[in-house]
Amino acid sequence: MSKKTILSGIQPSGRLHIGNYFGAIRQHIAMQEEGDSFYFIANYHSLTSLSDGKKLKQFTLDVTLDYLALGMDPDKCTFFAQSDVPQVTELAWILGTLAPVSMMEKGVSYKDKVAAGLSPNIGLFTYPILQAADILIYCSHLVPVGADQKQNIEFSRDLAQKLNRIYGDDLLIVPEPHILESVAVVPGTDGRKMSKSYDNYIEIFEEGKPLKKKVMSILTDTTPLEAPKDPATCNVFKLISLFADENLKEEISDKYKAGGYGYGHAKKELLGLINERFAEAREKRKELEKNEDYVWDVLRQGGQKARARAEEIMQPIREATGV
Ligand code: ADP
Ligand code: TRP
Repeated sequence: MSKKTILSGIQPSGRLHIGNYFGAIRQHIAMQEEGDSFYFIANYHSLTSLSDGKKLKQFTLDVTLDYLALGMDPDKCTFFAQSDVPQVTELAWILGTLAPVSMMEKGVSYKDKVAAGLSPNIGLFTYPILQAADILIYCSHLVPVGADQKQNIEFSRDLAQKLNRIYGDDLLIVPEPHILESVAVVPGTDGRKMSKSYDNYIEIFEEGKPLKKKVMSILTDTTPLEAPKDPATCNVFKLISLFADENLKEEISDKYKAGGYGYGHAKKELLGLINERFAEAREKRKELEKNEDYVWDVLRQGGQKARARAEEIMQPIREATGV
């Protein structure tokens, strides 16, 4: 049996944070070995919320550097920029003709983004259609993402089924989401979901004083140092749980419950764990930063591979739709 195609993408709309790491990137890196893997930088998607060419280019470079430093290996997977595959926007148009407006109106992420202050442009509204094209154009079987992407994958499944029903059964694969439930939502420093859109995130590649300041600012309750504390309701402990192994987690949990262990102590522990986890990646990123040409080259070569695959899928669709 041939290998399953695994695909995921990430928007280059800012520096990546540890919510992105545990919710998405860590899985992407781990899964690059498992199948025929495609990972891409969703720069067209970022245009829905960012209209600054210089920034978009810089963020694209940053996200590529972040991924390479964290272990994405262009020899093991196809790693590329979304805009290097024009077939994606071609398929998105066709899928758009099949997507009922009522389906788009159910889009949770559109509503959330508009509520958070983003401009309600048509690109933002039809974002899930472009995302469906991203997934379907490579005939992806599996899409590893954070829990907040569930609905977008559902839309992709619906659109694949509809296109197959109307134009021919074997044109598209109906993809499955792959969601790591145990880290479904990583809390930010204020206890809400960690997100670029709120000022509550801790960057993966933040170091030294700025990192310390962020960790020390994590919101906790006012239980005094001597009193026993509940680890289950503490943001610091939730973050520690992501980094620590089972033994350390239990040890810290016991300290919380015993009392005499303050939130300051827990924050120091967390800071140490973050530094330890990302030490190697930080060094690698600094090396890669010295060779920007190599980084753009990785994307260019990945783009070539992705385009060839997309063209194979697109040809029969053009024929079936009569364009
Ligand atoms: P942001 O909310 O910061 O804009 P994105 O929406 O660009 O992040 O998310 C990129 C990826 O990271 C998605 O797969 C998403 O599910 C995941 N992700 C983002 N924030 C979190 C979080 N706080 N917890 C878990 N996963 C997250
Ligand atoms: N919407 C995704 C996010 O915000 C990014 C994305 C775009 C994506 N296209 C995709 C994820 C296709 C998986 C598959 O994180």
